Amino acid sequence: MLTDVIDLLHCPHCTGELTLTGGTAGCPAGHRFDVARQGQLNLLRRSAGANADTAAMVADRVAFLAAGHYAPIAELVASAAVGSVAVEAGAGTGYYLDAVVSRLARTAPGARGLATDVSTYASRRAAKLPRIGAVVADTWAGLPIRSGIADTVLAVFAPRNLEEFARICAPSGRVLVVTPLPAHLAEVRHTAGLMTIEEGKHERLLAEARTCLTHDRHEDLCYRIDLSPDEQRHLIGMGPNAFHTQPAGRPETSIATTVAVRLDVFRHPAASTAPGRGQRAV
Ligand SMILES: C[S@@+](CC[C@H](N)C(=O)[O-])C[C@H]1O[C@@H](n2cnc3c(N)ncnc32)[C@H](O)[C@@H]1O
Ligand SMILES: [Zn+2]
Repeated sequence: MLTDVIDLLHCPHCTGELTLTGGTAGCPAGHRFDVARQGQLNLLRRSAGANADTAAMVADRVAFLAAGHYAPIAELVASAAVGSVAVEAGAGTGYYLDAVVSRLARTAPGARGLATDVSTYASRRAAKLPRIGAVVADTWAGLPIRSGIADTVLAVFAPRNLEEFARICAPSGRVLVVTPLPAHLAEVRHTAGLMTIEEGKHERLLAEARTCLTHDRHEDLCYRIDLSPDEQRHLIGMGPNAFHTQPAGRPETSIATTVAVRLDVFRHPAASTAPGRGQRAV
């Protein structure tokens, strides 16, 4: 719920503290934002752009994720999470954030999550999850989130603004980024004539991070899944292909395909300059 996370937010216009009064969030300077009936808070300073997932894409994502094919990815991300406050940018339906917060709650009973996404339809879904507040916000516009409050920041298959992630990350926190490897869904892409995964994605991520975060490690996850024709349609409909290509007809047979993703774990640079427990300065 929004009340769980309002203290993590700031006004997108003036960075003043936001407080909730009834169905409105406001800052001391008088900027006001309505909380939607479905529970999400819209902090966009403009109307949602063409990059926002549509209602149909979100419905396909809900259906696909419910089948559990990406549960091992959620497990991988959750195992790398730390602390009690998690923020996911481009959270979609909040599937990964939900897994992270559930994991954190095992050791931190007050664990909570903040899901941001530029899509209102996606944020509505995330707003339904327990211990999670959902905010409509554009990752590129600067996140309406206070500095240094997140123990874990996630971006899973979503746009990354690493400078912003570093700003909101606590000094002891982690930034977790999941990206597809070249083999990811290769069979489905090939059969349906979909977009390929660009080369050099990982190198670009590390280059982008160099100025603001410290790379800790990466973990690759690779496994096979069988997808029914309906599941293939959901997969195609929920992803960037729904924007960019005209899939070559409806899938009619099941297909075995590869899931291949990389989790990169970054630390806040402050954590690497100060010697931690058990470390000696050299
Ligand atoms: C491929 S989906 C991934 C969603 C979620 N992380 C998942 O894996 O289920 C990308 C998400 O990023 C959102 N998105 C795209 N551009 C964005 C932006 N500039 N700021 C915030 N969210 C954005 C889309 O609306 C969509 O929900
Ligand atoms: Zn304000």
